[in-house]
Amino acid sequence: MENSPFTVIAVQAALEAGEILRRGFSTEFRIESKPGIHNLVTEYDNAAEQSIISTILTHFPTHSILAEESGEQHKKKDAEVVWIIDPLDGTVNFAHRIPLFSISIGVVINGIVQTGVVYNPMVHELFIATKGKGAYLNGVKLHVSSIADAIKAFMVTGFPYNVNTNPLHCIDRFAQMQAKGIPIRRLGSAALDLAYVAAGRFDAFWELNLNLWDIAAGILLVEEAGGMITSYDGSPLAIYSDKTLVATNGLLHRFMIEHLNQKELWC
Ligand code: IPD
Ligand code: CA
Ligand code: CA
Repeated sequence: MENSPFTVIAVQAALEAGEILRRGFSTEFRIESKPGIHNLVTEYDNAAEQSIISTILTHFPTHSILAEESGEQHKKKDAEVVWIIDPLDGTVNFAHRIPLFSISIGVVINGIVQTGVVYNPMVHELFIATKGKGAYLNGVKLHVSSIADAIKAFMVTGFPYNVNTNPLHCIDRFAQMQAKGIPIRRLGSAALDLAYVAAGRFDAFWELNLNLWDIAAGILLVEEAGGMITSYDGSPLAIYSDKTLVATNGLLHRFMIEHLNQKELWC
């Protein structure tokens, strides 16, 4: 496995933050609400984020950072390196003592993700991708699945915090896919959803209204594992502006685009 200097530091930052989350998981911690039903933040989201930012800036003091809890920092001109951080993806799981969450760190240059690291500290699963160098789980090269028949597929999705308003018909689209009898999971960490597509555990993932920090690392994992990423209309994903995302093993991509857009079935 060949890693760039960015990947090496992203891994170090993720492992350090993972230790903070792992130790914090079984303690009594503060939980606060952000706007949106069930949108939570814990003191460990902030602690992990500060640790990650400090590691990055120690090594790359001139780089920009976009982090979920503290926003944009050190913003410079367009063509620079931007670190995209979700210090705890799956906060609702964490807050409810469900050990299914991750740290997601992506490095973007000129709108292209160059490094993606997703780490689940509870099971010590470290997913790493470097642009053009492949994707790995704990050092083992990853490949997306080879399922081509949607009826045999295993999928995952997620819903935004305002799901009750059925934005972009997300409930209708989910119901349509579920009605086909396809087993569908909702894990609660988009970064892990994408990492699991890269690992061939899931054959497809779709979700809308995700933020860049949820997906920056995961999309590179999927691409480097041989999968495909687009928006719901099948066009290449514009990472700073698209609000919908489909990730597949490639073989199921056409099926997903067709079936997520059956508008005649929407309520
Ligand atoms: C959330 C998770 C979840 C997705 C939500 C995200 P957070 O991130 O990725 O799977 O469905 O839309 O906001 O809030 O736990 O960092
Ligand atoms: Ca997130
Ligand atoms: Ca988060």
